[in-house]
Amino acid sequence: MAEAEGDQVQVSTFEPPVDFARDAHVGSFEQYEELHRRSLEEPESFWREITDQFVWTKPWTKLREWNLPFTRWFVDGELNITVNCLDRHVENGLGDKIAFHWEGEPGDTRTVSFRELLEDTCRFANGLKSLGLQSGDRVVIYMPMIPELPVAMLACARLGLVHSVIFGGFSSDAIRDRVQDASARAIITADGGWRRGKVIPLKDNVDGALTDDECPSVEHVVVYERCKNEIEMADGRDIWWNDLIEGQPADCEPESVPAEHPLYILYTSGTTGKPKGVVHAQGGYLIQTALTSKWIFDLKPDDIYWCTADIGWVTGHSYIVYGILANATTGVMYEGAPDYPAPDRFWEIVDKYNVTVFYTAPTAIRAFIKWGDEWPEKHDLSSLRLLGTVGEPINPDVWLWYRRVIGGGSCPIVDTWWQTETGGILITPIPGAITTKPGSATLPFPGVDADVVDESGNPVAPNERGLLVIKRPWPSMIRGIYKDGWGQPGHEGEFGDRDRFFDQYFKRIEGVYLAGDAARRDNDGYFWIIGRVDDVLNVAGHRIGTAEVESCLVQHPAVAEAAVIGFPDEITGEAVAAFVTLRGSFEESSELQAELVNFVGERIGRFVRPKLLRFTPALPKTRSGKIMRRLLREIATSGKVVGDTTTLEDMAAVAALQGIDEEE
Ligand code: WTA
Repeated sequence: MAEAEGDQVQVSTFEPPVDFARDAHVGSFEQYEELHRRSLEEPESFWREITDQFVWTKPWTKLREWNLPFTRWFVDGELNITVNCLDRHVENGLGDKIAFHWEGEPGDTRTVSFRELLEDTCRFANGLKSLGLQSGDRVVIYMPMIPELPVAMLACARLGLVHSVIFGGFSSDAIRDRVQDASARAIITADGGWRRGKVIPLKDNVDGALTDDECPSVEHVVVYERCKNEIEMADGRDIWWNDLIEGQPADCEPESVPAEHPLYILYTSGTTGKPKGVVHAQGGYLIQTALTSKWIFDLKPDDIYWCTADIGWVTGHSYIVYGILANATTGVMYEGAPDYPAPDRFWEIVDKYNVTVFYTAPTAIRAFIKWGDEWPEKHDLSSLRLLGTVGEPINPDVWLWYRRVIGGGSCPIVDTWWQTETGGILITPIPGAITTKPGSATLPFPGVDADVVDESGNPVAPNERGLLVIKRPWPSMIRGIYKDGWGQPGHEGEFGDRDRFFDQYFKRIEGVYLAGDAARRDNDGYFWIIGRVDDVLNVAGHRIGTAEVESCLVQHPAVAEAAVIGFPDEITGEAVAAFVTLRGSFEESSELQAELVNFVGERIGRFVRPKLLRFTPALPKTRSGKIMRRLLREIATSGKVVGDTTTLEDMAAVAALQGIDEEE
């Protein structure tokens, strides 16, 4: 460790440990620089070398096309992602290797080998086929963290079906919106899932989304029995998972699909009230998630890798399922909460399975710090050799704690920056090659041309804040925002909602991908991610749009108007604050306050519930009628006006008097 001259503060730096670098896939800074240079200057040969390591049913002839805002990769190539995640490993003699060590929250466990995972996938794919589902159809998956979740995803991919996984923390309304947007023909779910000793009623939530025939596209609901909680099965529509696979053969011919065939849709929050269906393609997504997994997590045949994310988010898609299985790596999968039954559940699991590579979110690490060092100290964590973080900026103190207490003072840490839209990690240390600085995601991965620019697209000076952009496409880049008809006969050459896609990512600075994050680069060119520049909040690493919460609140009969902002929270990074004006006949009360908080929880999901909800006679607005979010943020942060409503009125009045019109 050395003290380097930072730009604003003294920054510690950590060089890759010598032993680690010696055995690493990428073992020196020079090697990284050369890979990065080649990937941009000679992309054809760089990517050919990588893609040659995968199974293609038809080789690609052209690396990429870039027709703003659309990109296509590995043109003319055909493949099936599941062959690359399963069949080829079994054929290479790894059939008995463990794909997942699974741990249920109540303590039940299962081990699934690559052969079993392939057979389960095939049986279930045959079951889906028997329902009449065909390549290109959309299938919603709403499941707990059990092995059947990756099985369901892989079975879809094997048939060319497009899965849309919905995080189990979302409620009925969110399910309905997503099912409708994608016109899903089937939903795969479970009776329930365990969370902190309670059953999450997943099937009931699905039923709630399907009431009153609000989702006419849904023909089938497949239900896995996990918790044996009481549920209703609709005649002719609902079928038990086990009945569906009964008698199905354990092999299933994989559908050879063009590299651009959509693999999945994953909804994520943006600046409007309506989440965007981010579409990823089989070929580019496979290559990028596999390569990033291998180099960033430095995966070796004996590694036991554990990513604690939920598969319902992109981190789980890329770094529990596809990228990790593509490397034939043994993963750990855990169903429940980190503090159930006690705050050392994670460390017990690391100890039990001898986890070597551990990937989690800063919000979890902040909770561990709060719970106290005694919990990790109770366990032997010496199997760990590499740690990772994702989802939010990590505070340097938190980074240092992670390294010291979890990493035994010696594990490198990879702080990985990416997004649902990027499909894979784009800015990150490569642990054997890049010296780390706590709080910095360091440098772009090979193939990634990243920069920090001003509003005109010019690079800002070192240490100045600007907008994070990616200047050319990469293999797992978002292919578009889903719109009905995508990839269907009669819609050839259409890739979803072009205007929404273009406006969202390529308009503000024409022609480059705008990530929506503010960042700066230091004197060494290292990237420091500051946070979102749009109205997207990051609550415990989960993305949520303020507009989504606002449009939810105004659906409540008592609410006239609502403004939602994020404010700093010690554990979750950001928390949701809502400011609400009531309709004439409604009175402010603590009951109504609680009711509105629950309303958001029930309509969207518990994790979005406002931590602070305040009534106000009026929202502070500019003369042009824009809500002055900065003032609200100050109120929520300083907490000054809790229990009194006059200040808000004053501020609205002050703002109007001063004619503050340029707000945001
Ligand atoms: C934030 C999660 C700082 C960022 C994979 C981004 C980060 C958003 C980091 C995407 C990081 C992700 N440091 N911020 N290492 N990783 N973010 O789509 O604001 O759920 O735009 O994807 O998370 O969130 P998403």
